[in-house]
Amino acid sequence: MKATARAHTNIALIKYWGKRDEQLFLPMNNSISITLDQFYTTTSVTFQDDLASDVFVLDGVELGGAEQNKISTFLDLVRRMTKHHGHAVVESSNNVPTAAGFASSASGFAALAAASTKALGYEISDAGLSTLARQGSGSACRSIYGGFVEWHMGEKIDGTDSFATQLLSEEDWQLSIISVMVEAKQKKVLSREGMKRTVATSPFYDGWLASLEPDLLATRAAIADRTFEQLGTVLERNAMKMHATMLGANPPFMYWMSSTIEVMQAVQELREDGIQAYFTIDAGPNVKVICQPADEKAVMDRLKQLMCVKDLFLCHPGPGIHYLTT
Ligand code: PMV
Repeated sequence: MKATARAHTNIALIKYWGKRDEQLFLPMNNSISITLDQFYTTTSVTFQDDLASDVFVLDGVELGGAEQNKISTFLDLVRRMTKHHGHAVVESSNNVPTAAGFASSASGFAALAAASTKALGYEISDAGLSTLARQGSGSACRSIYGGFVEWHMGEKIDGTDSFATQLLSEEDWQLSIISVMVEAKQKKVLSREGMKRTVATSPFYDGWLASLEPDLLATRAAIADRTFEQLGTVLERNAMKMHATMLGANPPFMYWMSSTIEVMQAVQELREDGIQAYFTIDAGPNVKVICQPADEKAVMDRLKQLMCVKDLFLCHPGPGIHYLTT
């Protein structure tokens, strides 16, 4: 009745921004990501018959309130699916600099989906795990797999066809992803709220959706052919478009700080100097810079010179879900 699983975070190259169903976490569009080797969550789940409710311990601290609620709501899905009625102790540890604004919800829910089903001895496919993880946090459905991953939005209203698949394994293309920390504070507008407001109010949202298909096609082709310049060009443009939708929301909001823009400009200057580097930004001020391993040192050296940069974390494509023996 106990199992331990580890899942890694991922960074989207083509962003998921907007839900068509809030309850089921069904997205408005397909998205494509890279799973990162350095950031992960390890979660043990133990089902115990004598428990009156679920217990959630994160990094050694027992959490109640909203945090515990989210875990319990997710375990309710697992209980419904497996027809098991007991409660569980969930112990998680994050190897993700959450204080630096790097999201741990993707790795967290992917690890919880894997550990909880395994603890109950429930047979489930990767697509099934991805579908389950999606209902904890959308981007978690991509963290089931290593390397390059696509989340298919699906069409069904029950969400059974909305899950991720792997495009290319982590061994098949070596890239460098540098997480640039400029600000450690928590974001003001959570991604869930930000997406909702954008879909409901931004006149630019239709433009975002209409422009996605060519981005997806170009990204899939770049991954299949390992053409870095094409991949970089599209991923940077896609991130810019996602952030543009928020500027048109009512009330408008933005995640960038002046330091975010400094890093973006430094990346563009690197390209003017002939170094292929591209940036992407999620729902926060920190930037991820993507380059080829041969340029990794030059890019890191340039970024280190910026006064606004507080820390740099170098990542490469990482693995999917795996189970640990405890
Ligand atoms: O799944 P969430 O709620 O963490 O939302 C992720 C949203 C973005 O990070 C901005 C984009 C993405 O596809 O990961």
